[in-house]
Amino acid sequence: MLIRLIYASRSAGMLSPVEVKDIVRSSQRNNGPLGVTGALILSNGIFLQCLEGDHRVVNALYHRILLDPRHREPAILSYKEIDQRLYGAWAMGLVSTTEAHRAIFLKYGAQAEFDPYEMRPAALELLFTDMVEHARPITA
Ligand SMILES: Cc1cc2nc3c(=O)[nH]c(=O)nc-3n(C[C@H](O)[C@H](O)[C@H](O)COP(=O)(O)O)c2cc1C
Repeated sequence: MLIRLIYASRSAGMLSPVEVKDIVRSSQRNNGPLGVTGALILSNGIFLQCLEGDHRVVNALYHRILLDPRHREPAILSYKEIDQRLYGAWAMGLVSTTEAHRAIFLKYGAQAEFDPYEMRPAALELLFTDMVEHARPITA
């Protein structure tokens, strides 16, 4: 069964660009062979990650990611069966903190600051759809 899991977490302190690159690099290395695709956003000190793949594989990966001390306060915001992947081409799409992307993040939230914890699952789906169309992945 193909599923999409979207969760948020807070970065533990200020992560350096090297630490963020390290996260993306290991994600790209590990997710490809697992058949997992997705995207990772970092904005306003909050990670928002979309993971797509077989439900057992995504669940196991999510629980492994939770053990990472670089983030805390994880919350699953959406978990659903899907027919098609949004991120068919990306093993782990992007990390973005740029102003251009911030505008997309804010478009789907009610808050003035990017706060995915307060966003509805449907809005999160639209956010990631928009990201696929308008954002280019940053390669680590
Ligand atoms: C917000 C966040 C998202 C992450 N996403 C992934 C991921 O999608 N895939 C992955 O393998 N590791 C991910 N990691 C990193 C893992 O926690 C772990 O460091 C990594 O898988 C270790 O890989 P390695 O043993 O190959 O070095 C993430 C870490 C953080 C903090």
